[in-house]
Amino acid sequence: MDLLDTLRSTGAVRGFTDAPVTDATVASVLDAARFAPSGGNRQPWRVAVIKDPQTRQSMADLMRPVWYEYCGANAVGQRPFTFGRSIDAPPVEVPNALIDDIAHVPVVLAVAANLHEIAIMDGNLDRPPVVGGASIYPFCWSILLAARAHGLGGVLTTFLSRAEPAAAPLLGLPADHALVATIFLGVPTHQNTKLRRNPVNSFATIDRFDGDSLG
Ligand SMILES: Cc1cc2nc3c(=O)[nH]c(=O)nc-3n(C[C@H](O)[C@H](O)[C@H](O)COP(=O)(O)O)c2cc1C
Repeated sequence: MDLLDTLRSTGAVRGFTDAPVTDATVASVLDAARFAPSGGNRQPWRVAVIKDPQTRQSMADLMRPVWYEYCGANAVGQRPFTFGRSIDAPPVEVPNALIDDIAHVPVVLAVAANLHEIAIMDGNLDRPPVVGGASIYPFCWSILLAARAHGLGGVLTTFLSRAEPAAAPLLGLPADHALVATIFLGVPTHQNTKLRRNPVNSFATIDRFDGDSLG
């Protein structure tokens, strides 16, 4: 597939057929993703391929309350988990196929980042740091793009990061590592390629962020 077409059409996939994905395919996906950029080329990633049914179930049990919290906030029009806002709404129990059916997702990857290998250039500022994430999320996105090249689809999720302290012993998370994502992969039941994204002139300006709009 053409690279630009791929970038414009790789939507989140949360439904998978029963078709298995071999370890060799997962290794091949990771073998492409490892060429992702990272600050200082420190390559801070670790990946655990979660196969054990009990571990998967325990992960789902940790994700579910976070999902309910998210749904509760959404139900009253709050933007959950954003800077400067706390959630002031009761959780709402909505089914989530990804979580509820985790046993049948072909591939579940837990991705961690070594905090000693990440340059947190904004760690000194009086706001939550975000720049450190730039050393790990390109890798995650490359996993999703490489998966697509193998006819797979998937989604990056962060539910479990909210429950990191409980997830850490379950997954053997090394000390001073952050649990940055859980990525689900498989053969899509449906690949959404018509993505809703804001146009360039809604976010790009000339010279300054309050400058004239580009285009
Ligand atoms: C940093 C990040 C965190 C995300 N966390 C979750 C998550 O916890 N659960 C989930 O179902 N999707 C999660 N997603 C997927 C987004 O919901 C998805 O990329 C976005 O809604 C666009 O969907 P589309 O590609 O279908 O248009 C996450 C995506 C990113 C990049």
